Amino acid sequence: MLTKAGIPRVLPLAALCVLLVASTVSHAQPANAVEIQIKADQVASHVSPLLYGLMTEEINYSYDGGLYAELVRNRNFKEDAKDAVHWQLVQEHGGTGLMSLDTSQPFNEAIPASLKLTVTQASGDQRVGVANDGFWGIPARPNTSYHASFYAKAGTGFAGPLTVAIVSNDGTTAHASAQVAHVTQDWKKYEVTLTTGKAGPSADTRLVISAGTAGTVWFNMVSLFPPTFNNRPTGNRKDIMQLLADMKPAFLRFPGGNYLEGNTVGTRFDWKKTIGDISQRPGHMDDAWRYWSSDGMGLLEFLEWCEDLHMQPVLGVYAGYSLRNGARFTSFPELQPFVKEALDEIEYVTGDASTTWGAQRAKDGHPAPFPLEYVEIGNEDNADRQVGSYETRFAQFFDAIKAKYPQLKLIATTEVTTRAADVIDEHYYRRSEEEMEFHANDYDTRRRTGQRVFVGEWATRVGDPTPTLGAALGDAAWMTGMERNSDLIVMASYAPLFVNVNKGGMQWVTDLIGYDTLTSYGSPSYYAQKMFSLYHGDDVVPMTASGVPTKEWQPPAGRGGFVPPPQQAAAGRGGAPQAPPTQGPPPQGQPPQGGAGRGGRGPAGPQQPPMPIQVPLMFFDATRDSKTGTIYVKVVNRAATPQSVHITLSGVTAVEPSGQAVTMSGSGPTDTNSITDPVRIVPVTTKVDGLSANFTRTFPPYSISVLEVKAK
Ligand code: AHR
Repeated sequence: MLTKAGIPRVLPLAALCVLLVASTVSHAQPANAVEIQIKADQVASHVSPLLYGLMTEEINYSYDGGLYAELVRNRNFKEDAKDAVHWQLVQEHGGTGLMSLDTSQPFNEAIPASLKLTVTQASGDQRVGVANDGFWGIPARPNTSYHASFYAKAGTGFAGPLTVAIVSNDGTTAHASAQVAHVTQDWKKYEVTLTTGKAGPSADTRLVISAGTAGTVWFNMVSLFPPTFNNRPTGNRKDIMQLLADMKPAFLRFPGGNYLEGNTVGTRFDWKKTIGDISQRPGHMDDAWRYWSSDGMGLLEFLEWCEDLHMQPVLGVYAGYSLRNGARFTSFPELQPFVKEALDEIEYVTGDASTTWGAQRAKDGHPAPFPLEYVEIGNEDNADRQVGSYETRFAQFFDAIKAKYPQLKLIATTEVTTRAADVIDEHYYRRSEEEMEFHANDYDTRRRTGQRVFVGEWATRVGDPTPTLGAALGDAAWMTGMERNSDLIVMASYAPLFVNVNKGGMQWVTDLIGYDTLTSYGSPSYYAQKMFSLYHGDDVVPMTASGVPTKEWQPPAGRGGFVPPPQQAAAGRGGAPQAPPTQGPPPQGQPPQGGAGRGGRGPAGPQQPPMPIQVPLMFFDATRDSKTGTIYVKVVNRAATPQSVHITLSGVTAVEPSGQAVTMSGSGPTDTNSITDPVRIVPVTTKVDGLSANFTRTFPPYSISVLEVKAK
């Protein structure tokens, strides 16, 4: 059982023992203790209130088959022009019929084909129908009401009735069923409520619409929604939204990622095709990730998702560049339609009902404008190898957006020189725990130029489908660096956020949150982020660390291997701690490079194995709540042994002896959570006694801890 913070009330015995050992605070100072000195009355910098947020795109069945709660797959038959994929003909007790895709009865301009069912024989208990197998089944939960809807058009001589049911795949259990009594010969929408009984939960199910009389009927836009988060009629899956809500994210970067760009301009996230009545949305091929997107998660749904979780939208706009075939538009006349598209999009988000697109949003059901502070121009435009392309494109967006919306802050996705981007988005995917840890201090020496940084995608990519505890340790080490430097780093978001763990659901390995048809879970990295997001102050306090043990690490060679951090002028920041110098010069033959690991498209790694490197075994940072005085000390111990840390707080007049520790640990770096073992590695909260301005605490092996010390 979990507390609200996702922390088990009943701890596994092993975890309890580890924590009891670790929760002993002493005043004696072991000889090998790491020394931490915290200047609690000083402020090195401020923690950005937007630091911890989310990044999302349609990848790994993030929306369709994921967060977007629609249960019918290929609901408007656009996934395949020739074949009604995910639909099957049902013929029971000797009933017979035919099922085909048919364009003779167009549904609307966006959706040309319908599903034609011809019942050739049905009488008595015989039934003939169409079935949808959903996204790896239809989740039939006990005592639950589902909203089913579809459009139908009857052929001459057929009037129904039709039965709508959630049925087990072997046909033996109808979890819920309802009837539509009469079907007309014009396209019309029909809606029923399907309420399940005690059976289930089960995903070995499908949705069946069937008839018991002969005749022809066409179907389109067949939809089934379970109860959704905040009861939005075509909203989001409750369990996944709750996992996100528990992280208290400050922003949502959307709609991508490569999904924003598409492989071609025609498969970009074309926002105007994603708004309004879902039965009019054409959907599009998500060719960046190779599956069909219904666009049920459209622009307004992204914004409502932000609203539901009290997040700021960080809006990515298509910047005239797609991923394949050199699809880019740089000249003024070529790019203007896309600049206009972005301006219209911003108006849709922020305009009042007197504006064209604000009025459209109101018509779509949301009269109130949304707040918007940041707009990102494109995604990973360092991949556009045409010299000057992004510079030219960015300038045109910048000039037009700043002219109309001077208050907006614009994010560049790679370096630009002719315009002063407010923020630059940097992406870091690291291939090992050690590589991420090696980079944990990179920002300590980054020159402060006034331009802030959005670490818009980052992850320690260890773990399939979701990160291991080792990855979470790498992530936590990296987060200490980001938090400590959050005067520079305004926002950060892990990527990718989601993965459907069913076979065929994953396109990108190592994703924060996993789910299948019925359940979901947070990875150890999810919990590490939650710990960082929930427990921090608003001021970074100066901290120094000495005696931090290190361990040798041999970086791998070759493409995708180790890339050294940029060499930058030290900024002389009082707040930068910490571990002893760990970083030698860049490996032999390697020039210093920036933007390492961006989206896996970074420069090739060295061909010869680089020199071994010493990487710290511990990472720290400290923040303070300026209102309450609470000091949050974050400690990452990636070592296989417990580590004693002697902590001295200066500049405090009193320290409450009791505090709390939130600790996540495990027996080894490969420990992980999974769909069948969802809470193996989770943070545990314990009371800590014996705190003072000078104490020693032992941190368990493979652990991430936040120590809360109340001081005046
Ligand atoms: O997060 C997966 C992909 O990585 C994103 O779509 C892209 O921006 C990056 O290359």
